[in-house]
Amino acid sequence: MSAVIEHRPNPPFDIERDIDQIRADFPILSMRVGDKPLVYLDNAASSQMPQRVIDRIVRYQTHEHSNIHRAVHYLSETATAQYEAARGKVRAFINAGSEREIVLTSGTTDAINLVMHGYGRKFVDAGDEIVISAIEHHANIVPWQMLCEERGAKLKVIPVTDAGELAFDAYQALLNPRVKLVCITHVSNALGTIVPIKDYIDAAHLHGIPVLVDGAQAAPHLPVDVQALGCDFYAFSGHKVCGPTGIGVLFGRAEWLEKMQPFKGGGDMISSVSFEKTTYNVIPYKFEAGTPPIMAAIALGEALDYLSEIGLSTIARREHELLAYATDEVSHIGGLRIIGTAERKAAVLSMVVEGIHPHDLGTLLNEDGVAIRTGHHCAQPVMTRFKVPATARASFAFYNTFAEVDALVASLKRAKSVFGVG
Ligand code: ALA
Repeated sequence: MSAVIEHRPNPPFDIERDIDQIRADFPILSMRVGDKPLVYLDNAASSQMPQRVIDRIVRYQTHEHSNIHRAVHYLSETATAQYEAARGKVRAFINAGSEREIVLTSGTTDAINLVMHGYGRKFVDAGDEIVISAIEHHANIVPWQMLCEERGAKLKVIPVTDAGELAFDAYQALLNPRVKLVCITHVSNALGTIVPIKDYIDAAHLHGIPVLVDGAQAAPHLPVDVQALGCDFYAFSGHKVCGPTGIGVLFGRAEWLEKMQPFKGGGDMISSVSFEKTTYNVIPYKFEAGTPPIMAAIALGEALDYLSEIGLSTIARREHELLAYATDEVSHIGGLRIIGTAERKAAVLSMVVEGIHPHDLGTLLNEDGVAIRTGHHCAQPVMTRFKVPATARASFAFYNTFAEVDALVASLKRAKSVFGVG
């Protein structure tokens, strides 16, 4: 455990007061890009990792590593206990009712594909429908298109308003007995919209339709309580919640996981195997074939502890302040348009500047040490809907500062003057 954490004051945490200490937890934040301090505003793509999580990885690899669930020796039992403890931390983080409902996957994409194969290929037939929304990431579009193509089912899309909000009335009109699953994002990665997901879940449940929530952009920014939401599936990734890549989570209600077929076959997901017949392991192990990302799972558990100590409500409040400040500041820049102006937004600011392609903007900002993402953000239908080829997206985390927002704004202004557009 890093010394920084040990000196942390007790909650309630005040991020503005403790910002130097928080930033010191993240070694990468003090690096320089060329001769400029790094201003890391690409958190929606991947967040950074605190020293404490890095230390946990080192400790695991130095003193605890072995394969899990397979042997009775000391290291295997240690690694197994730590891996299962991580599952427990995930359960607590999203307030699932049972660890049986927590499947550790390689990420959100893997989790959604698991539901597509495990639920979709079992329960979706010709003429059935899957409802998604117009603001989904490709990870919550393409698997359902593949399923629909294979099964002869239809994909229905909830439209989005010019502000980037989903049209609830249009959604309700899509719900009917043919719909076998609703798959919807909690927070849009391209627009920042926070979807009032409980309303969508409740409406689907009135028709007996299960709901999968893509929580990749929500879990780092909002308190998530899957029991209060009542969702049937909830997916998120480790690397967006200050953990490592290669690990993610699928929460699935036990009654569904029990009924679903396995996604991947292999070791550990079986109860017995013969050439005549294989029986499967109990949930969640039925969905965790092969050696899992043990180190990454344990590191994810540490990352969730870290975030929980600060508190997700505190994080949400801080990021809201950063977003409000940044929105106000960039709105004074002539020719700059914000794509995504929903009333409730998480820490995403997608922009286009007249006369500068987003990729050129990203390159110019990088010269100033400002890291943003430019492109379609794996959400091409969103770009089409808003009639832009791409956007320049700044995305904030709780460890960002108001001074970093100022650096972003200064760099945007410099880009405009370099391109002679203002
Ligand atoms: N889905 C990630 C993003 O929005 C990679 O950037």
